[in-house]
Amino acid sequence: MSKKTKPAVLVAAPLPPFLAKPLSAAFECHDYFHATDKAALLRDCGAHVRAIVMSGGMVLEEALLDALPFLEIISVFGVGYDGVPMKYCQRRSIRVTNTPDVLTEDVADTALALVLMTSRKLVEANKFLHSGYWMQGAFPLGKALGGKRAGIFGLGRIGKAIAQRLVACGMEIGYHGRASQQSVPFIFFPELNSLAEWADFLIVSCPGGAATKHAVNEGVLRALGAQGTLINIARGSVVDEMALIHALQNGTVKCAGLDVFEHEPHVPAELLAMGNVVLLPHIGSGTHETRLAMAELVLRNLAAYFSDAPLVTPVLEIR
Ligand code: 8YV
Repeated sequence: MSKKTKPAVLVAAPLPPFLAKPLSAAFECHDYFHATDKAALLRDCGAHVRAIVMSGGMVLEEALLDALPFLEIISVFGVGYDGVPMKYCQRRSIRVTNTPDVLTEDVADTALALVLMTSRKLVEANKFLHSGYWMQGAFPLGKALGGKRAGIFGLGRIGKAIAQRLVACGMEIGYHGRASQQSVPFIFFPELNSLAEWADFLIVSCPGGAATKHAVNEGVLRALGAQGTLINIARGSVVDEMALIHALQNGTVKCAGLDVFEHEPHVPAELLAMGNVVLLPHIGSGTHETRLAMAELVLRNLAAYFSDAPLVTPVLEIR
């Protein structure tokens, strides 16, 4: 393809080199994310941009899409597309693709890691040894997983992979979601509150977006209770972060393991200062293998679209 015939792509997120490089080879890329004068960049290329590449955790403003009159496809480098205004895209016949399945196991591993880190105090134990305290005595005992109850909020592909791991640890599984699923042997809770009340660990693995915004609120945290742990590997928006901070400060819940936050990469100072939380910088899918597989899906979806082939992993396909 000569430079002139390459379709123009707006790069709205920071991309790893193994995606940025092949993307620039196949498309005319415009780095919107790093541009200091974003308005000037849009004036320059907005009228011929045909595709956007963005990441899972970010929000695409409709005003940006309004400045791209010939936008045809948005390719999300992530499974969650809660940051894409789907109704707007439907109205303008803009296709949307994501990167499902390839990241399921890594994200589930991260949830398991957070469960173990919080219950067995692994982060503190590591600090304890490094600081030389072992010479003065044994590390305080943790809590066993066997026989405990894991309540999974959102039993989709990732939720099921988490359940599989926690069953292997001897845990009992309950779940809440839009509907009860006949194919799983786990206990369904029609209300999130009752799941939280039942669970020792409440694990958030549902999609983000308006439908689940602040679903884990003060009441749900109260139901989880003083011995309960909240784990979130989904989206920060699902948990009312201020309510969680208060619940952790006053002992309404015991502790939390979080990979996602409401305003990433900003993490509230109150959380940073707490001893009863384990905080990770949104690394659920962050392995070489998985990010490479995600990058390949982004490229394959765009290549398919611009060669009139069916999209590989569409979430909104316009025929
Ligand atoms: C990524 C994610 O961190 O898949 C998602 O929805 O949030 C994560 O896997 C992100 O999309 C990569 O930039």
